[in-house]
Amino acid sequence: MTKFKIPVANPVLSQLAKKYVNQVLDSNWISSGKFCRIFEEKMADYLGVKHVLTMCSGSAACYALCQAIDVQEGDCIATNNVTYVATANAIHFSKAKPVFVEPDINTYCMQIEDLERVINLLDSKVKYVFYADILGSTTDIIRLEEVCNRYGIQIIGDCCESFSAYYNDESRVGSKHTSCFSGYANKTVFSGEGGWISTNDDELAEKISLFRGQGQKGGTYNHVIPAYNFRLTDMQAAILLANFEELEQNLAERKRVFAAYNKYLGGANNIYPQAQYPNSVSSHWMYAISTPNKGKITAALEAANIEWRALFKPMNQLPMYGAPNLLFPASKCLYDSVIVLPTYPSLTNLEIIYITDIIKRSDDS
Ligand SMILES: Cc1ncc(COP(=O)(O)O)c(C=O)c1O
Repeated sequence: MTKFKIPVANPVLSQLAKKYVNQVLDSNWISSGKFCRIFEEKMADYLGVKHVLTMCSGSAACYALCQAIDVQEGDCIATNNVTYVATANAIHFSKAKPVFVEPDINTYCMQIEDLERVINLLDSKVKYVFYADILGSTTDIIRLEEVCNRYGIQIIGDCCESFSAYYNDESRVGSKHTSCFSGYANKTVFSGEGGWISTNDDELAEKISLFRGQGQKGGTYNHVIPAYNFRLTDMQAAILLANFEELEQNLAERKRVFAAYNKYLGGANNIYPQAQYPNSVSSHWMYAISTPNKGKITAALEAANIEWRALFKPMNQLPMYGAPNLLFPASKCLYDSVIVLPTYPSLTNLEIIYITDIIKRSDDS
């Protein structure tokens, strides 16, 4: 039981999820099996890609991908300075070095001008951009591709927060570039822990599959590379599959929640909802605002037992990736001003009125 009256996320296990889990339990096959394969096929179909590989978490997906791509010692991979730490850590554990790019102040996603500055600064060392879509808003893929094509840099995506969204070129997230997804409990399609990778690249899919399964190829105990066990269990895949099959109704509720926040915060002073690029569609994962009055508003939310989250602590503020805030002013500004509000399908409009009233009253006081 949460100590918050209104939690920031609230996963609900449907009857379908319970039915599928029971099928797994009855089958006695609880490790990676039939449900993993069904999920992979259906997800590949939905994303319009050749391969989907289930993984035991979104972090494992990011990690496996950074191991599978073609980078050498001394290469750099550019990524968001404001993202969940898994994106940076995955690069850290590869042969390449992470280099950090400022966020766009309105969408919180990678700032493409700053990416170009970083690429020029590092001469020709940046081999990949591992961009992350933030809270459901998607990256400016049109400009990202334009810059990366110009410099001959490859693109991979951390789409753990943007499953079901569309970019500003109207392509579906995960359909073009090899991309990682998370099934963590607070996600739209969740399994507690879990994830998947989408790709059209046969060679990369083969490497990731090997990496996921202890490098086993051509028979039991025949291991051809040093690798990991990053497999998803069938119990998790059963929950993932049920949530995926119920995506449309959950998405409709998430859209209602976003629309209600927009409506009831509309016109409020000093409240700026996270923006989207024109022609893009958010995954409606988490609703966020930025405000100069974060301290007052969050104190009022806490007093009313409403859970909230800050935006991710910028990578440059973490000890292992430390760099002065002076070099990352946009990141600091977002960390100091963003409030992530409760967002989940069963959040009612009445609860949203209650939350937004508290925000507006504490902002006026
Ligand atoms: C942007 C991003 N990348 C990676 C991950 C890691 O996913 P997981 O928690 O499933 O390991 C998350 C987690 O939610 C995330 O938000």
